[in-house]
Amino acid sequence: MKMIQNLSLLFVFCFYCLPIVIQGSDQHERKPYIVYMGEMPMGRTYAIKEHHLNLLEAVTGSQKIARQIRIHSYGKSFNGFVARLLPREAKKLRGEDNVISVFPNTHNKLHTTRSWDYLGMTLNVNRRLNIESNTIVGVLDTGISLDCPSFNDKGFGPPPPRWKGKCVTGANFSGCNNKVIGAKYFYLEQPVIENASPVDEDGHGTHTSSTAAGVPVAGASVDGIGRGTARGGVPSARIAMYKVCWESGCSDMDMLAAFDEAIADGVNLISVSIGGPPRDFFSDPIAIGSFHAMRRGILTSCSAGNDGPDLNSVENVAPWIMTVAASSIDREYATMVALGDGKNATGVSINTFTPENKMYPLISGALAANHSRDDYGNASSCDTGTLSKEMVMGRIVYCLGQGNQDWTIKDLGGAGTIVGLDERADFGSITIIPGSYVEANTVGKQIDLYINNTKDPVAIIYKSISTRTPAPRIISFSSRGPQSIANNILKPDLAAPGADILAGFSNLATLTGNPQDPRHNVFNILSGTSMACPHATAAAAYVKSFRPGWSPAAIKSALMTTATPMSIKDNSAELGSGAGQINPLSAIHPGLLYDMNMNSYIAYLCKEGYTNTNIDILIGSKGFNCSTIVPPPQSTDGINYPSMHIRILSPNSTISAIFYRSVTNVGQANSTYKAIVTAPKGLSIEVVPDILQFSRLRQELSFKVVLKGPPMPKEISILSASIEWNDSRHSVRSPILVYKESDDFMK
Ligand SMILES: *[C@@H]1O[C@H](CO)[C@@H](O)[C@H](O)[C@H]1NC(C)=O
Ligand SMILES: *[C@@H]1O[C@H](CO)[C@@H](O)[C@H](O)[C@H]1NC(C)=O
Ligand SMILES: *[C@@H]1O[C@H](CO)[C@@H](O)[C@H](O)[C@H]1NC(C)=O
Ligand SMILES: *[C@@H]1O[C@H](CO)[C@@H](O)[C@H](O)[C@H]1NC(C)=O
Ligand SMILES: *[C@@H]1O[C@H](CO)[C@@H](O)[C@H](O)[C@H]1NC(C)=O
Ligand SMILES: *[C@@H]1O[C@H](CO)[C@@H](O)[C@H](O)[C@H]1NC(C)=O
Ligand SMILES: *[C@@H]1O[C@H](CO)[C@@H](O)[C@H](O)[C@H]1NC(C)=O
Ligand SMILES: *[C@@H]1O[C@H](CO)[C@@H](O)[C@H](O)[C@H]1NC(C)=O
Ligand SMILES: *[C@@H]1O[C@H](CO)[C@@H](O)[C@H](O)[C@H]1NC(C)=O
Repeated sequence: MKMIQNLSLLFVFCFYCLPIVIQGSDQHERKPYIVYMGEMPMGRTYAIKEHHLNLLEAVTGSQKIARQIRIHSYGKSFNGFVARLLPREAKKLRGEDNVISVFPNTHNKLHTTRSWDYLGMTLNVNRRLNIESNTIVGVLDTGISLDCPSFNDKGFGPPPPRWKGKCVTGANFSGCNNKVIGAKYFYLEQPVIENASPVDEDGHGTHTSSTAAGVPVAGASVDGIGRGTARGGVPSARIAMYKVCWESGCSDMDMLAAFDEAIADGVNLISVSIGGPPRDFFSDPIAIGSFHAMRRGILTSCSAGNDGPDLNSVENVAPWIMTVAASSIDREYATMVALGDGKNATGVSINTFTPENKMYPLISGALAANHSRDDYGNASSCDTGTLSKEMVMGRIVYCLGQGNQDWTIKDLGGAGTIVGLDERADFGSITIIPGSYVEANTVGKQIDLYINNTKDPVAIIYKSISTRTPAPRIISFSSRGPQSIANNILKPDLAAPGADILAGFSNLATLTGNPQDPRHNVFNILSGTSMACPHATAAAAYVKSFRPGWSPAAIKSALMTTATPMSIKDNSAELGSGAGQINPLSAIHPGLLYDMNMNSYIAYLCKEGYTNTNIDILIGSKGFNCSTIVPPPQSTDGINYPSMHIRILSPNSTISAIFYRSVTNVGQANSTYKAIVTAPKGLSIEVVPDILQFSRLRQELSFKVVLKGPPMPKEISILSASIEWNDSRHSVRSPILVYKESDDFMK
């Protein structure tokens, strides 16, 4: 126990007490590796750090080197350490007893309000305030800025008694309050960052934290845009910030350190708007950390990633994680452009600039080309280096293409940018000079024609206004399934608002994040699955405040089975939306739960081929035997998941799958649920039994879902179906999705 406390002191006040002075040529080849050793060893007083040093001594042959290369020992919530290793030492450690995995440290990236009203959670919605105010939301992110009024602690009592976390102070961060009750930072990289502190210099962490649990702030806006009351989903809950992201990204070793401490500190939920390419569960810090969190009853909510609309792009796919896609709300930011010929064109962006009362000269990139630089790129797209400064100066420039032309035009002294996109933008970007994004084929073409056919074309770009728009839709950038780590588990799980979200921001950052941008504000409008994740975290916290006894899996099940199915513009269907848009109010009364506990996940891991020995290490047991608990062999996914998914790997295979499920009654004691199946042509679905008769609460009944069908036609890769248990009071809906790999998948 003493050892562990010392470790934490070392951690907080002195990341690099041990100078790394390693002799010889090995020095440059050593890289940080994470050695993951599962559950904390139980039943003996265990000097964790000594044990780690012994292991290192065994592979390096030197006690001195062992001391020099060890960077950090985990040991509050799980066992493991970080050390600078040579590849051969890493290999040797993989073979050691008690080691589950050894993997190199890599960097993950951030997945960069009216939204709560839109989800039905109005300002005065029914709440369990006494429980909500004892709920602690742990956020792994870029830090937090207490200058943001969303974290005002007026009216908050002291932290809940079980809270064991700390508040670390440092540069620009003088301490916590009764709203933000904990703040720590994690930076195991070398050399050490001067003046490190939990402060948010990026804005992302302040934004996600305030989306989850910020207090209501009336009159919040970005220079008047989006004005309204900004607030989090659980405004009475407490926040604990674990800063793991720095300019270099968010490293595996820092994220694991944050999970290690957050779990031990006593958070109730963990929100992680960070990700990286999917990896094997136990070589992935978020999968490892969230597994140990789940064991202790803590649900981890993660963003799905921003690499959509491509398929196979979803991240954070472990079954014990709640993986959140980004949807739109019914508000967007319109930026109007008026042309000299009296026509108006509407685009999408977040343009904070109010124009002077005059028209500005207008030109297109194609006409502003510097022809002595034609080989530098594409002037129509306003590529950097292709335009003539003379032609751009003082003008609004129309550019084709994808993105950040406003910066190029700004550098050349332009007055504004109109960007023609292939498709209409489904979220707004903040522009550095007046700017609007229009659809190239319609509005854009008109603007270009006007420019080509007019002697002195002029235009004006107005400040953005908020408008209503049909919703929800899955946003184009939101990452899509299928995933390949847990083949037959549908990810993302569900969707939450992640476009044009107005929430708290850090005064130390600029609105666009670029240091040349002079604009600072304590609110900002951002888009990303990063913004969707804290919405789902807060929804989970809200459900938990009414149902404190529910497991993480039960809360996730409630949010999934009560979600609103969504239509999706491309044909990725539930591979984009999962079960659909969250419905926090309905999730309190789901009727039935697809519950899972630790053993359910262990059974699943057995099926996925994890060995008895690895499972022993993982959960800190002895003599665990997979063959005693494996579910029926025909089961397609081997887990009681609230959605059903099969990936057909060979294009000519017939469809054949069987899902064993059990549901727990949390509605009325006496209730009869009927299965209502919706299936497309080419897929037959049988539910056995198709009536479930409950006579008491907490009763668990089992059923199976059998899928059959001929080989799917060549041109079809997705069959979307659903099963809904309905007792006329509740509708407990699960998506069923068949995905066929394309022909070249096998090659
Ligand atoms: C933040 O802290 C650094 C280091 O102490 C200091 O140089 C800087 O001026 C501070 N910035 C603000 C805005 O307070
Ligand atoms: C274009 O927008 C301006 C400013 O909102 C408005 O005054 C004008 O009537 C609009 N013109 C057309 C043709 O819609
Ligand atoms: C055009 O490009 C040439 C060659 O790089 C450069 O010298 C010149 O200044 C540019 N002209 C303008 C007007 O930007
Ligand atoms: C320049 O970019 C635009 C928009 O991306 C594209 O339509 C056009 O074909 C490109 N032109 C050349 C010469 O590559
Ligand atoms: C306008 O003129 C430019 C330059 O000649 C050309 O590339 C573009 O296709 C023209 N636009 C339209 C809509 O005709
Ligand atoms: C695991 O259990 C199975 C079935 O009960 C048994 O046959 C097998 O010997 C056990 N394996 C170990 C290593 O105990
Ligand atoms: C599937 O069937 C088609 C048509 O019979 C055949 O051309 C193709 O090679 C088969 N693909 C596989 C992977 O068996
Ligand atoms: C459920 O139904 C049974 C049989 O109809 C009845 O005996 C029992 O009291 C009912 N339970 C509740 C909680 O209504
Ligand atoms: C299922 O239950 C809901 C109540 O949640 C009810 O409104 C709906 O009509 C039912 N659907 C069917 C198809 O019976």
